[in-house]
Amino acid sequence: MSEAPHGAPIKTPAQLIAAVIAGFAVPIIIIVLLAVYVDNSTRTGAGTDSLAEAQVNSRIHPLAQVDIRDANAPRVYKSGEEVYKAVCSACHASGAAGAPKFTNTADWAPRIAQGFDTLWHTALSGKGAMPPRGGTSPDDYSDFEIARAVVYMANNSGASFPEPAQPAAGAAAASGAAAAAGASDAGAAQQAAAAMAAMASVPQTAAPAAGGAQSADASQAGKALYQSVCQACHAAGVLNAPKFGDKEAWAPRLKDSMDTVYNYALHGKGAMPPKGGSNASDADVKAAVDYMVSAVK
Ligand code: HEC
Ligand code: HEC
Repeated sequence: MSEAPHGAPIKTPAQLIAAVIAGFAVPIIIIVLLAVYVDNSTRTGAGTDSLAEAQVNSRIHPLAQVDIRDANAPRVYKSGEEVYKAVCSACHASGAAGAPKFTNTADWAPRIAQGFDTLWHTALSGKGAMPPRGGTSPDDYSDFEIARAVVYMANNSGASFPEPAQPAAGAAAASGAAAAAGASDAGAAQQAAAAMAAMASVPQTAAPAAGGAQSADASQAGKALYQSVCQACHAAGVLNAPKFGDKEAWAPRLKDSMDTVYNYALHGKGAMPPKGGSNASDADVKAAVDYMVSAVK
């Protein structure tokens, strides 16, 4: 016979049962009350806010949006380093297509000697295989940003040009007008980027190699030069170059005498750099033209 010690509060089986039930129920009730207390913000059923203005706006939101840029808003200019990395490094980092190589003081010294204004002007208008503005449009990079890139490149390669002055608001408006004019050939910047990538991959040793093959067989040399240089643009029609083997693209050009066509290939025409930007011999360039022309006859 077990007997509870004196003074214990539970004396009958009914009290024991009540104590056991309370032992379970009281903590549970406390937990539930605490949970309600912690999360006592207003509750709404799912979907009750579906007609709220923000919700409706997000549902009837147009898929395509026109992002109107205020031409008069103060422009955030990219730094010379940013422009260099985004655009100019395609050629100037490796010295592709004969570009003066970044940080190579020997390449740059004679160019720096021309002075900043000349370099800036050349960067804007192009020279040989160097496309105007590095192939970008005034929409993407203003004259001022190109100037910064020139200073960045030159100063990392031996010069100490001062940072160009930021244009005033009036100048920005003028460049905005220029940008509108530049925007007319949409996609040109994209194509130029493709051309830059293609030209950056042109192996620099290939052109002289093609020159060596000249004695062997003119048509071989022409094909070799085409493959090492010209196809960077002419294979895919980059920058609107007449595509290799595309009779329609070539027909209007071949109405000119072959001498004229050779002349364009040797001295350049529009976006076509003289000799495709290579240093091949005249004979090889003509052979490459013959090779390209024979593919559309
Ligand atoms: C598609 C390749 C290519 C890209 C991209 C390119 N350049 Fe050039 N750049 C050249 C070549 C090639 C030359 C050498 C031209 C020559 O002397 O015939 C050159 C030369 C230059 C010169 C020296 C010009 C002179 O008067 O001697 C400057 C300055 C210059 N580039 C600035 C830039 C800037 C700034 C950018 C970017 C906004 C840029 N380049 C992007 C290929 C490129
Ligand atoms: C950087 C890109 C590029 C490279 C590299 C290039 N071309 Fe071109 N080429 C062009 C473009 C762009 C045109 C169209 C020019 C125009 O009509 O304004 C063109 C046009 C021509 C034409 C037709 C000219 C005419 O209207 O009669 C010939 C020929 C030609 N290229 C030959 C060559 C040869 C040969 C090479 C290699 C040694 C070469 N190209 C490399 C871009 C290039």
